[in-house]
Amino acid sequence: MLDNLVQQPKLADRIETKARQLQRNGLFQLFQADKSRFERFKFDLDALTIDLSKHFIDTESVNLLTDFAKQKQLEKKIKSLFTGELVNQSEQRAALHIALRDVTHVYPYEVAIHQQVQGELQQMREFSQAFDQGKITGYDDQSIENIIHIGIGGSELGPKLLYEVIKTENHRTKVHFVSGVDEDALQSLLKRINPATTLCCIASKSFTTEETLLNAVVIKDWLQQNAGDLNWQSQLVGISANPAAMTEFGIAENRQFFIWDWVGGRYSIWSAISLSVVLACGYQQFYEFLQGAALVDKHFYTTTMEKNLPVLLAFLNYNYTQFFHAQTQMLAVYHEKLKYLPGYLQQLFMESLGKQVDMQGKRLQKPTGQIVWGGLGCNGQHAYYQMLHQGQHFIPVDFFVMAADSVANSAHEQHNFTNALAQARALMLGKSAEDNTKYYPGNQPSTTILFAKLDAKTLGLLIALYEHIIYVQSVFLNINPFDQFGVELGKNISATIKQALLSGNYDELDQSTAGLIQGVNSP
Ligand code: F6P
Repeated sequence: MLDNLVQQPKLADRIETKARQLQRNGLFQLFQADKSRFERFKFDLDALTIDLSKHFIDTESVNLLTDFAKQKQLEKKIKSLFTGELVNQSEQRAALHIALRDVTHVYPYEVAIHQQVQGELQQMREFSQAFDQGKITGYDDQSIENIIHIGIGGSELGPKLLYEVIKTENHRTKVHFVSGVDEDALQSLLKRINPATTLCCIASKSFTTEETLLNAVVIKDWLQQNAGDLNWQSQLVGISANPAAMTEFGIAENRQFFIWDWVGGRYSIWSAISLSVVLACGYQQFYEFLQGAALVDKHFYTTTMEKNLPVLLAFLNYNYTQFFHAQTQMLAVYHEKLKYLPGYLQQLFMESLGKQVDMQGKRLQKPTGQIVWGGLGCNGQHAYYQMLHQGQHFIPVDFFVMAADSVANSAHEQHNFTNALAQARALMLGKSAEDNTKYYPGNQPSTTILFAKLDAKTLGLLIALYEHIIYVQSVFLNINPFDQFGVELGKNISATIKQALLSGNYDELDQSTAGLIQGVNSP
């Protein structure tokens, strides 16, 4: 009777108390308490092995997670994503990137959407065949040697990452990515390549992005100037959700590829935005990439909460950002071909979770997502790892490593492998020392993701995993991960400043900005 009167603490408080208790006890204690901990917290997700054992997690916290998932109606929210509901509420849009890799229409979103996607894939496949047969340019049977891919943000980071992972010496066509605002670099590229054997792909969901259009105009001029009597338009391709703007720019209808408003820019790697890579490396590779992602979608959609990897990883991120004051998360890639992964995931996390209001528009009291950064592991060890080992910040790390069996024949790969494992162990255990300058506190948690080989499918698995982690984190935080209004203000102010710069009238500007426009003192 008395028991019934004792109130259970709120679930959120129990999660926080549990997190603090785990942190007080330390990571090493968790291994001592459970001899089968690695087996318990090591998961296989097709070609990935994911070790969560070096995290502040135990059976009791997983139980709390399942309660929390119920409280947050996570199952229902996952269904909403896969059904094509308007999960992006502020823009009244679905976020149906899962449809882009759902080739057999497994999930219950509209048939019409499935048909659109398959139609576009078919168009990409046919264009890729014509490309392989040298039937693209205005020049007779001329094969393309170079593709210039122009795009920025999600319209560049994804294709660039995919290309880096799957390109080989055997591919005769090279892709050059132009995203920055650097006229010298662009002109120097144009001097080195032959316009007759170059295809220019302009990738922009909106087709209004200034940086992309600035570069696109230069490219169009270059094609026009060099085409002679031939049709320069045959070598200009556009990928966008804005066909009218593509047409106005001069892209021929049979060179236009489409995405839709329900494909977020940072989720567009699965769409025709990756066309330049499809052409250079072959459609089959792209198909395998989509299949990798589809395997993760299936896992996410069908697996119970306590074994669902995006859910477990999102719960850890939630705990670390909300209770451990983690401001950042480091991504350490121990494979050169993954060098663009941290930058790619940085956009995915930070555009998605950098929010200040919840789904109801109410201001949030705490920071939402983490600052995501990182790079090549071994290089980082000789640069910023010092702060991970002895600085005062709590910094969870994700290690991406080729598995032991796959590194046997390469001294370089073995070096990567042993160093990744060494860093994860050092960060977990630390080291005691009488001399404080030699003391390592340890207790920095990490995820290790092993893969047997690094190919298109593996990359598909990796990226889809992170997409879903971010979605679950947003559900836990009750925020919209699919809009990005924060990027607008700077763009608008830049237009005002450009006007002031050209007119010499600074009345609209603050003192500092006006002063800076007036320039530096030349000595
Ligand atoms: O400014 C941010 C952003 O809108 C990203 O979300 C997007 O990936 C990028 O710019 C490029 O946009 P677009 O594909 O429309 O050129």
